[in-house]
Amino acid sequence: TAVSFSYRVADLGLAEAGRHQIRLAENEMPGLMALRAEFGESKPLAGARIAGSLHMTVQTAVLIETLVALGAQVRWASCNIFSTQNEAAAAVVVGPTGTVEQPAGVPVFAWKGETLAEYWECTEEIFDWSDEATAAGETWSGPNMILDDGGDATLLVHKGVEFEKAGRVPEAADTESAEFIIVLDVLRRSLDRSSDRWTRIAADLRGVTEETTTGVHRLYELARDGKLLFPAMNVNDSVTKSKFDNVYGIRHSLPDGLNRATDVLMGGKVAFVCGYGDVGKGAAEALRGQGARVIVSEIDPINALQAAMDGFQVQRLENVIGDIDILITATGNAGVVSLDSILGLKHLAIIANVGHFDNEIDMAGLEGLAASGQAERIEIKPQVHEWRLPTGRSVLVLSEGRLMNLGNATGHPSFVMSNSFSNQVLAQIELFGSPESYPVGVHVLPKILDEKVARLHLAALGVQLTELSPAQADYLGINPAGPYKPDHYRY
Ligand code: NAI
Repeated sequence: TAVSFSYRVADLGLAEAGRHQIRLAENEMPGLMALRAEFGESKPLAGARIAGSLHMTVQTAVLIETLVALGAQVRWASCNIFSTQNEAAAAVVVGPTGTVEQPAGVPVFAWKGETLAEYWECTEEIFDWSDEATAAGETWSGPNMILDDGGDATLLVHKGVEFEKAGRVPEAADTESAEFIIVLDVLRRSLDRSSDRWTRIAADLRGVTEETTTGVHRLYELARDGKLLFPAMNVNDSVTKSKFDNVYGIRHSLPDGLNRATDVLMGGKVAFVCGYGDVGKGAAEALRGQGARVIVSEIDPINALQAAMDGFQVQRLENVIGDIDILITATGNAGVVSLDSILGLKHLAIIANVGHFDNEIDMAGLEGLAASGQAERIEIKPQVHEWRLPTGRSVLVLSEGRLMNLGNATGHPSFVMSNSFSNQVLAQIELFGSPESYPVGVHVLPKILDEKVARLHLAALGVQLTELSPAQADYLGINPAGPYKPDHYRY
């Protein structure tokens, strides 16, 4: 019998279109499908109540349905206001066996083009398990696992607990971002209703599995300050995540976003990439592949030298600002492109960010200019804006400075996300199933599981792995079944 549940998506009528796309994606996600085959019967996630905050795309739909196939209950929100694919969200709510009239899938709270206030309401929704608790006759009312991307869901719990301990939510300081003021409002309303909601949720949480560099960075800071409330699995630093998704994923989805947004020819243009980490490497390679002349900036001498040895000019942004046609930020850092830099760009230069948050580019500075009448923002189409500047020139800003590969395109393709999400599933199984092995702190998956994820993707590409002979294994001092490298090996 179908149980009715609440959800918030753009249009359930898109479910059929979404289901077709999910079906095609499943064929490109051999890792997730192999995990369904391996664990579908034993259901290692039975009893897991997963609150998920990760871009609600077609690939994520395959992840969600894999978690469900392994026994989990799931509630989901997106981790970005522009990244949801409405047809994927609808299909997940309806589920593989449900109908638009009688949805039988998963409660999703996500649509493309949320306001920031709606975004945080949706994030709060994934923590409200009272319907599921009532249906199960249980006393819990929250999740026992988080699956996070960027750390917003984890932040909400930590801030909630902090304010419940203090007995009040502080007034926002003048320096606080508009977004954090919204978070404070959400938590103030929550505290008015319950004095210990987040404390109880935190106590039930077995852990969080975190998808991205920026979210992982936040987790290590919490751990360093002794503030981390539950164990965390750093999925990003599985080799089969950051050395694949961040690099090859962006190599695909950055040009996709540029094309869909502007259709500008990249060949012959000057492209500038801020940051030569994993994402920056993929971005720079893609732009060079299209024939752009690529310049890179770095603060780290090792990455700067890597960029130079890969054949890129390495420069400071301000030294070449007037030459740039396409400016990409990929640092995970704040304040990388200043208002001064923006004012120094060519007429109709494109500015776009692929780092997790929108503070890499001084969007607040641009908005300040608009507020005082010195600049004007014209919508060319959703997620593409021309900013007319006081210099008489304009710039094109994609996705309002937020992840353009997800805002202007549909994010990374299925095959690479199958690697990332196989790590997510294994991390959920580990943290949920073996809590005794993972005390409060930030962990990475054992290398043998990282190798397993890679292994699950070889056959689809026709890869024939060479087998280590017993004599060779002995010579190298490793097990023929792996792990093949020491933990300090960097790939
Ligand atoms: P990373 O740490 O490998 O690379 C970032 C690089 O930026 C580092 O080498 C650092 O030295 C450099 N950097 C920092 N400040 C800088 C500055 N002011 N100027 C120039 N360079 C600077 O991190 P990764 O994995 O490349 O991730 C970067 C960002 O992209 C993160 O926010 C991450 O969460 C996000 N991300 C986005 C994806 C997408 O689909 N758009 C996919 C994966 C990650």
